[in-house]
Amino acid sequence: MQYATRILKPSEYRIAADLLRLGKCVAFPTETVYGLGANALDAKAVSQIFAVKGRPSDNPLIVHCHNQQQVRELTMPWSKEVQTLMDVFWPGPLTLVLPKRPIVPQNVTGNLDTVAIRIPDHPIALNIIRAAHLPIAAPSANQSGKPSPTRAEHVWQDMAGKIPAIVDGGPTGWGLESTVLDCTSLPFKLLRPGGITPAQLQRYADICSTTDEPSESDEPPRSPGMKYKHYSPEAQVILITGNKVPDVIAGLIHKHSHLGERVAVMAFSESMELYTGALVLEMGSRNNLQAVAARIYHLLRKTDTLGCTLVLIEGLPESDTDLGMAIMNRLRKASDSVIVT
Ligand code: TXA
Ligand code: MG
Repeated sequence: MQYATRILKPSEYRIAADLLRLGKCVAFPTETVYGLGANALDAKAVSQIFAVKGRPSDNPLIVHCHNQQQVRELTMPWSKEVQTLMDVFWPGPLTLVLPKRPIVPQNVTGNLDTVAIRIPDHPIALNIIRAAHLPIAAPSANQSGKPSPTRAEHVWQDMAGKIPAIVDGGPTGWGLESTVLDCTSLPFKLLRPGGITPAQLQRYADICSTTDEPSESDEPPRSPGMKYKHYSPEAQVILITGNKVPDVIAGLIHKHSHLGERVAVMAFSESMELYTGALVLEMGSRNNLQAVAARIYHLLRKTDTLGCTLVLIEGLPESDTDLGMAIMNRLRKASDSVIVT
């Protein structure tokens, strides 16, 4: 179906809510990235999300609620540990995977008997969910495989003509998708790193990290979204980590620009000036990972608008205690190859 896609102002959230009640898809901001929402109780509405995004049907969606009462209608009763996590981190960028009730359509959950749920910490998202009187299923509002949208114009790039409306709430705060935690067995399992770090979660519950990398085995992944390539611009992307990063990047710039490639480097503020002969895109300071997280999807998309054919990205040392783990997880998935020096 073709639409003349409208850009709605935050104050027009009721129009968005009405469209959702009519079974349409609408994009709206959350504190992490823009979501592509539909009525989570309407299998037909949900099927449009998959069609519009080109998303594989076995990759389940996150359901967004505005309060815990609404969550209770979708999931089986939860434990004291889960209650604590909800009280501490909601509203916020933490998604909990819980056993679902039959009311949640099977296409929301990719036929799993669990459902992923969160209460977003964004006034526009909450206004829309409350006004619609509905739980809203919403994956990131990008074309499947592309970087997640952190601005309304990113959604426009991918969704113009395909959905009736985009609510423009300006740039999102976090810039990375929520942390996903499987709470269906003990210890709880980190399925996707995000804004809420394992160190923060550990203070309230027993957590183990599974690797959120594509597995080689035939075993079904615990979080089906893990196995797909993600966040990729048109250019070839190489992530470089280790202790000789600037030397390796300088060598690659030299080699590939001589081959006629249009090379971009995504660099930290501290090392930007080391690179010449390429477009240098500033990710932000190594000392402010929050700001880096908020910029990486925007920069990956920018390499497309700049017509780059090769993108070289400076990696971070990883640690469990800060956002570095989530940033590196996304950068690895965006990359065609990783060079460890
Ligand atoms: O911040 C976010 O989480 C954004 C905003 C819009 O809320 N949404 C988002 O959705 O990132 P999406 O669809 O791009 O990612 C959902 C992730 C996928 O990795 C999916 O496999 C996992 O959550 N997931 C969903 N339901 C699941 C379930 N029942 N069991 C395990 N993993 C699940
Ligand atoms: Mg996504």
